[in-house]
Amino acid sequence: MAETKKIAVIAGDGIGPEVVAEAEKIIKRTEEVFGYSFTTEHALFGGIAIDEKGTPLPEETLSVCKSADAVLLGAVGGPKWDNNSKELRPETGLLGIRKELGLFSNLRPAVIFDCLKDASTLKPEVLEGTDLMVVRELTGGIYFGEKFRREGAGGEEAVDTCVYNTAEIERIVHQAFEIAQKRRKKLASVDKANVLETSRLWRETVNRIAPEYPDVELEHVLVDNCAMQLLRRPSSFDVIVTENMFGDILSDEAAMLTGSIGMLASASMGEGAFGLYEPVHGSAPDIAGQGLANPIATILSVALMYRLTFGYEDAADAIERAVAEVLDAGHRTADIAVDKSKALSTTEMGDLIAAAIR
Ligand code: NAI
Ligand code: MG
Repeated sequence: MAETKKIAVIAGDGIGPEVVAEAEKIIKRTEEVFGYSFTTEHALFGGIAIDEKGTPLPEETLSVCKSADAVLLGAVGGPKWDNNSKELRPETGLLGIRKELGLFSNLRPAVIFDCLKDASTLKPEVLEGTDLMVVRELTGGIYFGEKFRREGAGGEEAVDTCVYNTAEIERIVHQAFEIAQKRRKKLASVDKANVLETSRLWRETVNRIAPEYPDVELEHVLVDNCAMQLLRRPSSFDVIVTENMFGDILSDEAAMLTGSIGMLASASMGEGAFGLYEPVHGSAPDIAGQGLANPIATILSVALMYRLTFGYEDAADAIERAVAEVLDAGHRTADIAVDKSKALSTTEMGDLIAAAIR
């Protein structure tokens, strides 16, 4: 019997609890099939925590997360809390939890499922074989730099500053190289080194670290060119590593290659194997409580957790294979169904995927 691992489960609002319940089915199933052992501890987060505890990120939720080996998050937010003050908004909890847990990178895989190639706006032959991962720096750069207004010759001026230090770049670049080593051993480092000083430091740092990973093929790509190449030759990318703002934009672009937000998993990582795993989508208030949500993004987030935090490659592979098998057999939730009248509910989809794990 494997050592028992602890997963903190923070389901959040809207469809969060619905999709997380299906992911928990998958966790149970992998215990049965592979002999792994997990305990799950649930905690309040987001809008529901505001309603019950008066804050989106209660102390006890934070301590449940800190004492766990990994965190599974559903989604937070909804119109009920949209007009609240900043401290009483669910999204403030998201920023808070990333900061408190020291999560400095965001990993977003974009994988094309062959049978869903039609869901994308790109030609199937362009998408063929696409399986990439965007590694985005999450705590530095222009989003966190000093911001201010001042009077200038041309009237009011607004200033945003972009700051990166060597240590911040090193830790994420090491992580990206290590991820590439476990995949197809290709790393594209994206910057704007022809213009930006932070990008020049970024590129120098990448070049200094690269000899430690001789088995990984490195290319430097300018961000504007990367935006083009993602549409022209997506299948040629394996791991893409980049700074915060470029990563924000490129990860959304890469997501749209796949055509469906209900299919996209993500991980946020710090030092070591600890990680927070969540679907890319939000709380989808428009369909919440109706059993319509696609649970696959959250289920694939569990596969990512197994791979990146626990090193349970066999179970991660089995989950991804089960998802592909169920889709190949023609099963769809409404968001990815051509014939909506035949669409499965959230729980039906979860049950089929669980049963397909062997
Ligand atoms: P959203 O991702 O919740 O929904 C966008 C559209 O995609 C909606 O039509 C929704 O029904 C659909 N959709 C999303 N996930 C789906 C799924 N699993 N299955 C089927 N359809 C799905 O984004 P939106 O509407 O902009 O935001 C709604 C709320 O979620 C807001 O309060 C927002 O702040 C919050 N949000 C939270 C995030 C998080 O918790 N990490 C991320 C993004 C938004
Ligand atoms: Mg974004």
